[in-house]
Amino acid sequence: MATLLDAPTTSPTLSTEDLSVLRRLEELVRQTHLLWDQEWVGFSWRNYTFEHMQRVRGLSRTLAREEGADARVLEFAATLHDVTKSYDGDILVGPDGKRVLDENGFWRNATLPPARTNQVTQLYDQLGLAGTVHSVSGGKIADALLAEEGYPEDFRARVDRAVQEHLIAGPNASIEGKVLNDADTVDANIGLPAFYRNIQISLHREDENYAKRGERFLDWLRQNLPAYLDTYLKEKIPTWIEGKQRDFVTKLNTPSAQRLAQQRIDRLRQVNDSLIRELEALEHALEDGGLAVVRYFMENRKNPQMTEQLALLEQRWSGAATPATAAQLLQEIRREAAGEY
Ligand SMILES: [Fe+2]
Ligand SMILES: [Fe+2]
Repeated sequence: MATLLDAPTTSPTLSTEDLSVLRRLEELVRQTHLLWDQEWVGFSWRNYTFEHMQRVRGLSRTLAREEGADARVLEFAATLHDVTKSYDGDILVGPDGKRVLDENGFWRNATLPPARTNQVTQLYDQLGLAGTVHSVSGGKIADALLAEEGYPEDFRARVDRAVQEHLIAGPNASIEGKVLNDADTVDANIGLPAFYRNIQISLHREDENYAKRGERFLDWLRQNLPAYLDTYLKEKIPTWIEGKQRDFVTKLNTPSAQRLAQQRIDRLRQVNDSLIRELEALEHALEDGGLAVVRYFMENRKNPQMTEQLALLEQRWSGAATPATAAQLLQEIRREAAGEY
């Protein structure tokens, strides 16, 4: 995972002062998400959003280089883009049973108050941001935090704008907004980190369905793993990949993001084909194939942190003379998580 410590080599525009502010802001963002106790809201679990932000920052760096966007604006905007995301509660449903849309066509969320408070939540209240979409409140919080750090108004305005544009970047959006919007879309939808997210979301739904009947999905899964993997990899994932190909790739704002997304989709198809082939020799594959990794993700879903799980799994196959297929898959996930192609 790329960290801020790598930044001097990749982003020569960042000063030592910038780096120390970014480190502080990153920690503040991490702490902010921890002020809520809900484990799952909508399509996110508690530990998801912080790691998503780190990956979006890595992707923004990659895309900024190719698109000539301002890397410094993007470092701050990416770090803060979802700072208020935890306020998003359940998606509102109207009397007609349909999701309620705001003026931009976004699903409206109930505002979920935090269980504890910090600098961000105090600013949120002072600025009266309850009920606003998280891109708008995030931009305002970014502006206020950077003002406290002494950043000039024009720089703050550019960061604010990019954060606002992360959800919707029209043709007149800033290039930083377009890049951030692309990075945000790609991370959540396209590639191996999105595949990891798909596992979490799909199996969480199963948890809920089984719980309604007073059963535990995990117990069922342990008894029926081959059957579940078969349907998941042969039916669900191909449909999911083709949907993303159709609905997302051509709609990305920048040519660099379209290329990157296409490459990730192609890789994902290959990975899935290889996982399907592994089903033929399942016992062996569950030892050191890609399926060993998938199985681990499926069976260990208590508010997971992807980077922590990757580190743990890397240990497991680190001593092998020839790298196991599992280890290769882990490497590819790592690379995409760092924002590379
Ligand atoms: Fe967001
Ligand atoms: Fe995001």
